[in-house]
Amino acid sequence: MSLTVVVGGFFGDEGKGKAVSYLGLMDKPGICVRTGSINAGHTVNYNGKSWKLRILPSCFVNESTRLMVAPGALLKIDVLLKEIEETGSRDRVWVDINTGVIEDRHVENERSNEYLMKTIGSTGQGVGAAMVDRILRVLKTAKDFPELKGFITDVSGEVNEELDRGGKVIIEGTQGTFLSLYHGTYPFVTSRDTTAAGVISEVGVSPRLVSDIILVFKAYVTRVGAGELPGELSADEVIARGWVERGTVTGRPRRAAPFSIDLARRAVMLNRPTQIAITKFDALFPSARGKRKWVDLPVEARKWVEEISEALRVPVTLIGTGEDSMDMIDMRREVVGP
Ligand code: IMP
Ligand code: MG
Repeated sequence: MSLTVVVGGFFGDEGKGKAVSYLGLMDKPGICVRTGSINAGHTVNYNGKSWKLRILPSCFVNESTRLMVAPGALLKIDVLLKEIEETGSRDRVWVDINTGVIEDRHVENERSNEYLMKTIGSTGQGVGAAMVDRILRVLKTAKDFPELKGFITDVSGEVNEELDRGGKVIIEGTQGTFLSLYHGTYPFVTSRDTTAAGVISEVGVSPRLVSDIILVFKAYVTRVGAGELPGELSADEVIARGWVERGTVTGRPRRAAPFSIDLARRAVMLNRPTQIAITKFDALFPSARGKRKWVDLPVEARKWVEEISEALRVPVTLIGTGEDSMDMIDMRREVVGP
């Protein structure tokens, strides 16, 4: 039995989609569950194709995995149906009876809210407005929509059953630790708890059943929207370092800063991961690009990983070296660190 939880360690956009798609292909879980909502864009590049997923789990690349949306998640019907089409996964997508449904009025409500759009820098996808309705207990859920009839299941029941029969489950978190409603840089945060504890609560699975928590850090830190970003670089410096990125959902340019060990330490405290994944490693060490073996990394790159692992006292087990899901150094067998 194994339950792996994947969460972001910074401000979102750490490359969770890439990490989860790799784990899907390698570990072939019976179920992968997406938490969060459509404000989060998870990018998957595999075999020359690219997908930007806002609600379906990134494990879809493994065809034997059942794809589920958590009861605590919020979907939007047009986004869900579009992604089912794009991934060709109609016969293996399931949503929970209690999964919340964002309607157009939620989107309109957020977009006309100046505080949210200008001061906070919300993605304006209606997620926070729908959460408000959920808390007021007026939000409609999946069971209220005939279009979703064929997709409905009991997600926590399915996950627990899969684990009880010895299967593997991956839970895909969204955003990052410091965008957590409770543990982030409030009020410059998203509308849910994005930590490991928060995402398992969205699924409905006991903390006792978690076997691994993988905390994903990018090799540098980015942030979209407002709020502090320690060590933030000027726009010119971001370009010079080749760290230019744009938001998956909004297309906004991302602010960037070098990797912060202080932020990483706090993210480790809040999530207590068993493993760390580092993505976009090739942005720091171009000679690491496309490498899939630890021994093929340049010495200074290996030293950087070892230092991080020692400072955080958590093994770095996955290192992303390119866009493709399979551009990954996987040290889950030859672990580096204390
Ligand atoms: P909201 O959750 O869309 O209201 O946005 C609140 C804050 O969280 C803003 O700073 C957004 O840019 C940020 N945010 C929300 N979702 C994501 C994400 O998936 N990646 C990165 N930032 C996000
Ligand atoms: Mg993203």
